[in-house]
Amino acid sequence: MTEIKATNITWHEGHVSREERERLLKQGGCLIWFTGLSGSGKSTIAYTVEHELVKRGHLCYVLDGDNIRHGLNKNLGFSAEDRAENIRRIGEVGKLFVDTGVITMTAFISPYRADRDAARALLKDGEFIEVLVDVPIETCEERDPKGLYKKARAGEIKGFTGIDDPYEAPEKPEITVRNGECTPQEAAAQVIKYLEDKGLLRTA
Ligand code: ADX
Repeated sequence: MTEIKATNITWHEGHVSREERERLLKQGGCLIWFTGLSGSGKSTIAYTVEHELVKRGHLCYVLDGDNIRHGLNKNLGFSAEDRAENIRRIGEVGKLFVDTGVITMTAFISPYRADRDAARALLKDGEFIEVLVDVPIETCEERDPKGLYKKARAGEIKGFTGIDDPYEAPEKPEITVRNGECTPQEAAAQVIKYLEDKGLLRTA
């Protein structure tokens, strides 16, 4: 549990509503939460969705695990506590982005179900779209784009997700993409189709 130290604070309401921002952007703000093993292709798919939607005139943004850990979350490691705090902060940042009306994507391993569910609980029904990037560990290890599985097998990295640290797959994700059996473009198309079906990509 996060200790609450902020006291004597008051919520200040602005003059512009989220609905006005969404009308301006012609879209519904939502948080598309990619989860999966390192090397499963979360970031690649998210950036492909972003590229495609921006081409169609929608404003998107990707919050990427490795990138966020260069700045906002550079003081966090990979213990269960630090991963929980990593995900808590991104859930909160994601909630702010959703309030701007931006189609927001997060690409974090987010290995613990409870941490992802806590992020989901910050948003209204339908705003949090969990995407399981379901790729067998053997495939991720074979790809090993950052050479980290090799290091983990050699014992140079301890507590690596899928090797000697847990990954709890979601039980009921909104979307499952099998990025070992399809291309990132096909996986991205699957996500975009979901957004279309939910009426989140308005054109007027
Ligand atoms: S999370 O578990 O807290 O959600 P996050 O997605 O932010 O992880 O960061 C994962 C990235 O950090 C991996 O893609 C990899 O590049 C790097 N990394 C470094 N150490 C580890 C580790 N012990 N376990 C998993 N990923 C690690």
